[in-house]
Amino acid sequence: MTEADLYILYKGMYVPNYFHTVQSLKYCEEFSFRPDDVLITTYPKSGTTWTKEIVPLILSGGDPASVETLPNLDRTPWLEETQACKLNLEDRSSPRILTTHLLYHWLPPSFFEVKPKVIYVMRNPKDVFTSAFHFFGMCGHLVSPSSQTDFLHKFLNRKVAYGSWFDHVKSWLNAEDKLQMIIIYEEIIMDLKNLVTRIAKFLGKPLQAEIIENLTDRCPFNNMKKNKMSNYSTLEIMDQTKSEFLRKGIVGDWKNQITTAEVEYFDHIYKEKMKDVNYKFIWD
Ligand code: A3P
Repeated sequence: MTEADLYILYKGMYVPNYFHTVQSLKYCEEFSFRPDDVLITTYPKSGTTWTKEIVPLILSGGDPASVETLPNLDRTPWLEETQACKLNLEDRSSPRILTTHLLYHWLPPSFFEVKPKVIYVMRNPKDVFTSAFHFFGMCGHLVSPSSQTDFLHKFLNRKVAYGSWFDHVKSWLNAEDKLQMIIIYEEIIMDLKNLVTRIAKFLGKPLQAEIIENLTDRCPFNNMKKNKMSNYSTLEIMDQTKSEFLRKGIVGDWKNQITTAEVEYFDHIYKEKMKDVNYKFIWD
């Protein structure tokens, strides 16, 4: 299957037609944010699913039911997906937890008016690429990589679903001063307890040490894999016999995946595209 079969083009970015329609994208464009909404925003494969687990747990004071009752697509819906239109989000009580893969300046006018809290999740783009390579190979709604090098070229040149990692990161980093925004990155793997504490504080929901301890025990990779409401095992469009959604959950797996020549090409493009970005990334 090709891009023409599986994707629609939205503002120059491919999005899979399995999850997005013109109507669902319009729904997002007209969505009414509330000031107490929490928006998780990510480029895919950066740690979205983990964040969709931890935020409900934090806001509920550690209640396991907050992540065991509804699939994460319903519990923390993607605003631009067809699912969102069906959930009556307008009737949901606050605080609503919402997710998007869109760029900052594509959000609806209400977002800029009420400025809800934003959690931006970033990950080393080489690990994002590695994760995406396996993910695109197992998802029926995405164009399968014909080879790793071909996929790398597409990934670095905005030709994959959800567009460019560079566009995404730059768009949200440029907005940092204008928003109530917390940026999280590989602490998910490296320093979970500190990260949970940091997010809880940002959300205005400081937690007792015991609750933080419980959350930290619950949300590492191997434990999260067991939650059927979070591991996408119920989504038939993903063939997890090819590659699990929660695949390895480590930092630096790109070193096992990307060839020396590919790394050189990656670094060349990265340097060029990020030359105007004045930000100290953890992976630099
Ligand atoms: P890998 O494919 O490298 O394992 P997203 O949710 O944005 O699609 O990102 C998915 C990536 O986050 C996958 O990376 C997945 O394993 C990793 N991930 C999800 N939950 C995790 C957790 N609790 N700890 C570490 N990594 C996690």
